[in-house]
Amino acid sequence: MRTTVGIIGAGPAGLLLARLLHNAGIDSVVLESRDRAYVEQRQRAGILEQGTVDVLRAAGASERMDREGLRHDGIELRYAKKRHRVDFPALTGGRSVMVYAQTEVCKDLIALQLKEGGPLLFEAEALAVEGADTDSPRVRFRHEGVEDVLECDYVVGCDGFWGVARKAVPAALSRTFERTYPFGWLGILADVPPSHDELVYAHHDRGFALLSMRTPSVSRLYLQVPEGTDAEAWRDEDIWAELERRFETADGWRLQRGPITQKSVTPMRSYVHEPMRHGRLFLAGDAAHIVPPTGAKGLNLAVGDVVTFARALTYEKETGSAELLDAYSATCLGRVWQAERFSYDMTTLLHRAPDATAFEDRLQLARLERLASSRAAETDLAEGYTGFPFG
Ligand code: FAD
Ligand code: DHB
Repeated sequence: MRTTVGIIGAGPAGLLLARLLHNAGIDSVVLESRDRAYVEQRQRAGILEQGTVDVLRAAGASERMDREGLRHDGIELRYAKKRHRVDFPALTGGRSVMVYAQTEVCKDLIALQLKEGGPLLFEAEALAVEGADTDSPRVRFRHEGVEDVLECDYVVGCDGFWGVARKAVPAALSRTFERTYPFGWLGILADVPPSHDELVYAHHDRGFALLSMRTPSVSRLYLQVPEGTDAEAWRDEDIWAELERRFETADGWRLQRGPITQKSVTPMRSYVHEPMRHGRLFLAGDAAHIVPPTGAKGLNLAVGDVVTFARALTYEKETGSAELLDAYSATCLGRVWQAERFSYDMTTLLHRAPDATAFEDRLQLARLERLASSRAAETDLAEGYTGFPFG
């Protein structure tokens, strides 16, 4: 098989890239190791930045999002039983975010790709990227038990943190930057209308909690739990009781309980691989970088990477100049590090580290008070949350 761009992975990065290239008249083949149902049901991110919303609209992939997505103009910070709302449009010149789940973004992009785009092969596992530093890179893959080779002009590794693409960058040229956190998130989906109309980020002595949502009738909630926690070890009524404690306010706000339909634990990690390009192999999304989930940057970063790649390749096709492709890694990394910084700041602002000292506890509260009393501090948070510009 032969194509212009071989895309490994049909998560948000790979699927959106295939769509952007299709719209630019560039052919691609997407290889995805899992089956369609698995990709469409994998519960992950829920918040789209303004820039991501704009890109999905421009790509002609926003019809259902515009009908069913929930525009959010702010979040609530909760600490010491107090509530403080951060108003995004007022602080950022009109920017907001959209609640629309990653599962739905993927479903919409898969349907479009199968209807209008190039080949999207499920249960096609990439085994290795070869010849990345030549003019004809190849992806070796296995589809329906048979090994095959995809010959490409470019390969884009959109295969997430555990994929194979990153391994094709020689160790001598790679640099990685990493931090793990001694806690994770226990996430639940519950069939109950969200108890607040905006997301609530709660700081509490017992640990962080987040109230989010998927639809007007489905809540998504998270609890900070120790690293290595087994989700099944938490009984549903204990999860609700712990959420109630952490969201408690002085003004008597109530959390509505409902049947829990899913629970899982997500580990927390910050990770960046530099560079994001080796020869004709480009890395995008979680294949190149991971952020801890606080602040919902992961999916949005992946979108920024593939927009940058699609623009750069289109420019090369139109002008013959590889200038933007050559700048790909540096362009993406500028935004990646801003998101790393933002996610780290949000994580350390709101979580209780198991070894935190009393001094650090007080500093955390001082940082929260500062956000609640300074427009400058709040503006910084609002700009980061609604998103940094694509490169
Ligand atoms: P992925 O979505 O990981 O997609 C990679 C795709 O490549 C997958 O479909 C995988 O099956 C496929 N693949 C892997 N290896 C191969 C191979 N060898 N051959 C072919 N295909 C392959 N972000 C938030 O903002 N909020 C959250 O609440 C949140 N929760 C998360 C929970 C979990 C458990 C994880 C892992 C991530 C979470 N994230 C969250 C991060 C966010 O979901 C990711 O940043 C986003 O999915 C990145 O998209 P991607 O396309 O780069 O990678
Ligand atoms: C969600 C996840 C996040 O990490 C976040 O900061 C906000 C919302 C969510 O899954 O809904």
